[in-house]
Amino acid sequence: MFYFQLVIMAGTVLLAYYFEYTDTFPVHIQGFFCFDKAFSKPYPGPDESSNVPPVLVYSLVAAIPTITILAGEVMVFFMRSEGMLEKTIVTADCCYFNPLLRRIVRFLGVYTFGVFTTTIFASAGQVVTGNQTPHFLSACRPNYTALGCHSNLQYITERKACTGNPLIVASARKSFPSKDAALSVFSAVYTVMYVTLVFRTKGTRLTKPTLSLTLLCLAMLVGVVRVAEYRNHWADVLAGYFTGGAIAVFLVTCVINSFQQTKPPPMPVRPQRPESVLGMPMVALPCVESPLEKLSGTQVRGGSGLVAGLHT
Ligand SMILES: *[C@@H]1O[C@H](CO)[C@@H](O)[C@H](O)[C@H]1NC(C)=O
Repeated sequence: MFYFQLVIMAGTVLLAYYFEYTDTFPVHIQGFFCFDKAFSKPYPGPDESSNVPPVLVYSLVAAIPTITILAGEVMVFFMRSEGMLEKTIVTADCCYFNPLLRRIVRFLGVYTFGVFTTTIFASAGQVVTGNQTPHFLSACRPNYTALGCHSNLQYITERKACTGNPLIVASARKSFPSKDAALSVFSAVYTVMYVTLVFRTKGTRLTKPTLSLTLLCLAMLVGVVRVAEYRNHWADVLAGYFTGGAIAVFLVTCVINSFQQTKPPPMPVRPQRPESVLGMPMVALPCVESPLEKLSGTQVRGGSGLVAGLHT
């Protein structure tokens, strides 16, 4: 069954690739009002010239959770008392995983899956809606004389109305939701939930909130810069935040939750109410089969699962 998860993963990566680098899914062509002020902001240059270029966003999205999870798992592994460790776990009749490696593969695997899912959600939204960026008319450079524009109430549906660079025009049609905002919020929320739920060491009382708020603040900033540079509207950024945040919450509460052993592990030393996580009553989310859950063999489901699962 482990190989089946790899097939799903490969499919997700492939779909994200097709959205990102090919024109397999052509963007929906929306019309526009002549001289529309909402789309007439100056062209800010290609994404690479932004203050927060994609290279920086994607590097941080890849590096910060990876480093946090690796450091966290190594710390948890060495601070754990010997009795609580399972020695080796038989996985899918084929491989033996060391428990440290198994947890790292689990958290990073679900994270990677989430990154590509978020990319697909955001790209699909952009292609299907075809909403224009605030600098759309500057990139499109319609010939208003030829189109017969006199007032700003005229709506242009002409598909070949743009005279600008076709590549820039095509990317100026992909605005809703903001992919950068979605990816950075996904990354931040996943990391924050990981840190909050896994680190239960004394003396981390202010470390955890500081780290969490810093990450969330950085992620929000990505969206704010997108708006400030006329690359997205507020609605695009808010929809991006929501997409990324919702996917992260879903993956942590539903999918990681279901990574459990047949034998429930001993409960953490610190007593806690089983129905409560982060001091809030746990919401009973409708959980589906996880694409990666078979990684750890059979599992038990239940309301108290999240806390127990994270301490496996
Ligand atoms: C716009 O269209 C008009 C009429 O077709 C043409 O005379 C004019 O040269 C065009 N202007 C530009 C900048 O292409």
